[in-house]
Amino acid sequence: MKDLYGADCRKYEYIKVKAMSVCGRYGYSEIYTPMLEYSEVFQRSIGDETDVVSKEMYTFVDRGHESITLRPEGTAGVIRAAVTESLVQALPVRLMYCGEMFRYDRPQKGRYRQFRQFGCEHIGEKSPYIDAMVIAMASEILNAIGVFDFTVLVNSLGDEETLEAYTKAVVKYFSRHEKSLSPESQVRLTKNPLRILDSKDRHDIEICSMAPIISDYFTKEARSYFGKVMELLDAYGLRYEVDNFLVRGLDYYTHTAFEFKPTTGEFRESIGGGGRYDKLVAMFGGPDISGIGFAFGVERLMMLLSNEHFDTTTKTVAVIPVSNSENDYAFSLFRELHSVGVAAEFIHSGNMSKKMKAADKLGCELALIIGDEERSSDTVSVKFMNATESAIKSRTINAVSTVQFVKNALGGHKS
Ligand code: HAM
Repeated sequence: MKDLYGADCRKYEYIKVKAMSVCGRYGYSEIYTPMLEYSEVFQRSIGDETDVVSKEMYTFVDRGHESITLRPEGTAGVIRAAVTESLVQALPVRLMYCGEMFRYDRPQKGRYRQFRQFGCEHIGEKSPYIDAMVIAMASEILNAIGVFDFTVLVNSLGDEETLEAYTKAVVKYFSRHEKSLSPESQVRLTKNPLRILDSKDRHDIEICSMAPIISDYFTKEARSYFGKVMELLDAYGLRYEVDNFLVRGLDYYTHTAFEFKPTTGEFRESIGGGGRYDKLVAMFGGPDISGIGFAFGVERLMMLLSNEHFDTTTKTVAVIPVSNSENDYAFSLFRELHSVGVAAEFIHSGNMSKKMKAADKLGCELALIIGDEERSSDTVSVKFMNATESAIKSRTINAVSTVQFVKNALGGHKS
């Protein structure tokens, strides 16, 4: 679990604001769901045999003897809320969310136990146009935050009939290789065979490379649905690759599934992913309607943004009394500046040289110095902290015009 501060906090806010503005244009409104849900909310929807449910959830029994889980992802809670809050009575429902998720993952670069996701769910419309639109919208979010070097991996998990036939084929194939599979995948073979396809075990991955591919088991409808999605992605001019083994790590997907991966830089793992789900809404007691959504890992997006543009702080002015006798007078000027929305620092400890050093360290653009002389002549000495050798370094102004002067000076400086 990572502390976020400084530039990281600014990156986080930036990503959230940009993503929300893109999705707002597509008709999404924000939802906050609880970070804790009854464990069954996740167990049933994500699937008992997935890594997320079987190994990664923070689950505990609360004081009321209920099994509670810290949410490992956003979709289950959002769908649960859309049903319990009766939002599904007026379709489509388009919801976006941003917040903390928890997975007891093996910590490594870009993988944390507490992380943030920005996600969207479009509920109540099923059509290849919606799938293409959602994938394009997710790509637009990446562009809006300045990420252009990525690819979209797409696949289809087909419909129920497809999945049934494919699962049979997969079981047949892996049964022939049972002894060579990892102990974990041997268990998966009987409980949830498709999960073998996202095993991280080296030998499993080798065996998986020759496994049957789902497109050979598509029903006519599933094939034509996926074909249309790809045709529309082509029309959008989106760079995508078909990955026949993309089954995603969660059980609720049907039809279109997709994942975003960076194509440059050190980090090449998934920065976001999603897909369509036909059964999830009904599973939570809602109508028999389909939905589609995705989530980006915000920390992973943050890794793709350089710190350069996020290191800047607000332009500030230092108010510096020369000695203790000017403290009260300087403090009232400090309060006046804040009352009109100017960011000011009140620096009154140490000798003058220490105070000036402190103003410099805090990155103040201007120092307003008030000594005995200034007070008696109703003036303020201004020092431009970033002035170059040739530029004006300091000047004296009338005390009454200080606020206006500071506003003009800060407004005219580049941060
Ligand atoms: P997911 O692929 O499990 O999908 O997670 C989405 C993204 O969250 C990943 O691509 C990754 O960027 C980020 N992420 C996952 N685990 C971690 C971690 N331990 N540390 C940092 N980042 C992480 C879902 O969660 C689905 N709910 C997406 C979705 C929405 N499908 C339909 N609607």
